[in-house]
Amino acid sequence: MTQARAYTNIALIKYWGKSDITWNLPTSSSIGLTLDQLYTDTRVDLTDDLKQDLFILDGQLASNPRISKVLDFVRQQTGSHKYAKITSENHVPNSAGLASSASAFAAFALAASDSYGLPTDRPSLSRLARLGSGSASRSVYGGFSIWYQGYDHQSSFAQSILDPVDFGIRVIDVLTDKKTKKIPSSQGMQRAQSSLDYSNWLSQSKMQIREMIAAIKNKDIEKIGLIAERNAMGMHALNRSADKPFDYFAGETWAVINDIHRLYHAGIPAFATIDAGPNVKVITDSRSCQKVADQLKNFGEILIQKPGPGVVHV
Ligand code: PMV
Repeated sequence: MTQARAYTNIALIKYWGKSDITWNLPTSSSIGLTLDQLYTDTRVDLTDDLKQDLFILDGQLASNPRISKVLDFVRQQTGSHKYAKITSENHVPNSAGLASSASAFAAFALAASDSYGLPTDRPSLSRLARLGSGSASRSVYGGFSIWYQGYDHQSSFAQSILDPVDFGIRVIDVLTDKKTKKIPSSQGMQRAQSSLDYSNWLSQSKMQIREMIAAIKNKDIEKIGLIAERNAMGMHALNRSADKPFDYFAGETWAVINDIHRLYHAGIPAFATIDAGPNVKVITDSRSCQKVADQLKNFGEILIQKPGPGVVHV
């Protein structure tokens, strides 16, 4: 038996497209910041009497084909024929709306690698986590990390940019909507890739990766926020210009963004980033985060997060 814990990460430069669906290879590199409040604990037990993998999520029997996809790869690498019982718990305040495949697959990668005797160095864990969920490749690391696009299973993994780190950056989740997302990220990306602006977004993203690494190394929260916001807005513009257009934003999303812009123009560092759902995450600093939280609390539940650690045994 082995048990691992991993935390969620927020993409500052987004992964939004696959070049290979089987191996989950991305069309661009991405940068994430692992946070300290939301995590998943996953335990893997190997027993001889199982006839198939068994997955228990938050105390309930569940099914997720990506779990067996990862385990089939592990079994193929090790020559093992054993099935596993996977017990996973999401530690997310007030549950719905925040559950994350990033923390789940990063924790699972360590627990599974350990149980089956695969290497547990971080690049190897990052590759394995990627097979389950692309963003999970970054949650293997604490603080800031970059997931290199790569061109095959071996070359597509994440590495640390800066960790441990707390130069005052904070991320505030504004939970206007706790329902599960309408369009799963894999489907959203596939549709976004049909946008005529897609190749333009990819070249922008390449430049933003370089700018973001410099901003992180300079601990420049304003630059980090400005680049992240532009990158996120670009990702959502792709969705709106896809062949079959769609939008993760809701009315509340725009209302929160407008308030964030008002704060920024009043001299408070506050920048918006949004993933595959309507909730806004605000990038700010430790001095301003309470003020920003107070300003936005009427929109819904607020969660203030700091940089968090990489995957560990528990
Ligand atoms: O890896 P997935 O399927 O969780 O997709 C992540 C997509 C975004 O959260 C929107 C961007 C990212 O890089 O995390």
